[in-house]
Amino acid sequence: MKNTILTMKKQKESGEKIAMLTCYDYSMAKLMDEAGINVLLIGDSLGQVMLGLEDTLAVTMEDMIHHTKAVARGAKDAFVLADMPFLSYQTSIYDAVVNAGRLVKEGHANGVKLEGGADVCEQISAIVKAQIPVCAHIGLTPQSVNAFGGFKVQGKNIETARKILDDAKRIEDAGASLVVLEGIPALLAEKITKSLSIPTIGIGAGSSCDGQVLVYQDMLGMFSDYTPKFVKKFADVGSIMKGAFKDYIEEIRNGSFPAEEHTYTIKKEVMEELEK
Ligand code: KIV
Repeated sequence: MKNTILTMKKQKESGEKIAMLTCYDYSMAKLMDEAGINVLLIGDSLGQVMLGLEDTLAVTMEDMIHHTKAVARGAKDAFVLADMPFLSYQTSIYDAVVNAGRLVKEGHANGVKLEGGADVCEQISAIVKAQIPVCAHIGLTPQSVNAFGGFKVQGKNIETARKILDDAKRIEDAGASLVVLEGIPALLAEKITKSLSIPTIGIGAGSSCDGQVLVYQDMLGMFSDYTPKFVKKFADVGSIMKGAFKDYIEEIRNGSFPAEEHTYTIKKEVMEELEK
């Protein structure tokens, strides 16, 4: 069954947690979809994990559309959620609607995600009016890395905790269907989750959220540049891959690959003819 904003709302109501993972290509999308992941997020984290950039700021609309298209082709049941990159929506309401529309029309996304609270509520309302579901993203919003002075946990004091709670309520009033809570204390995330009727998806926000999201390279041990405290490695695929690459080198060098079964044949007579 296709995951939609309605099925996710029902999950919140029934207490069935929502599983979201980042995804950036077709083969991974098929694997995640077949495993039953509810939402495939084409995160602008692709700047770091796919493109080797320091942060998400240089990611473009073209990057996002390119990867969203690939993921959408592999997603049968999962909801395809595409991130709006830095300055694709902060600049104006017009830009926000046009760029959200491009992610849907060209990338085949089912919805878009954008960072910010009260500051982007007009954009959220306008995108929703254009019939595009919106997931907001508050707390440690990576596009604000320079404004925050680094990737720092948010909402630890009364002013910032109040601001994040207020942002969450405004986002819901503006029409968002989901909200990602990143890098905030677990008790604050629990309070927000109880205060909203839309599902909350946590990353570094404790277990009370209505769902969880992780960057797949982090949860599979495929990205070692840095690992935030909230990451759990569910499998060490990175080590398995490195082992396979080493075996490949070894077998090429010792001549055991390719073997007979990996090789095409030709009739003896054809070879004899060639020799003439
Ligand atoms: O870009 C991303 O991958 C994200 C998740 C970490 C929530 O926004």
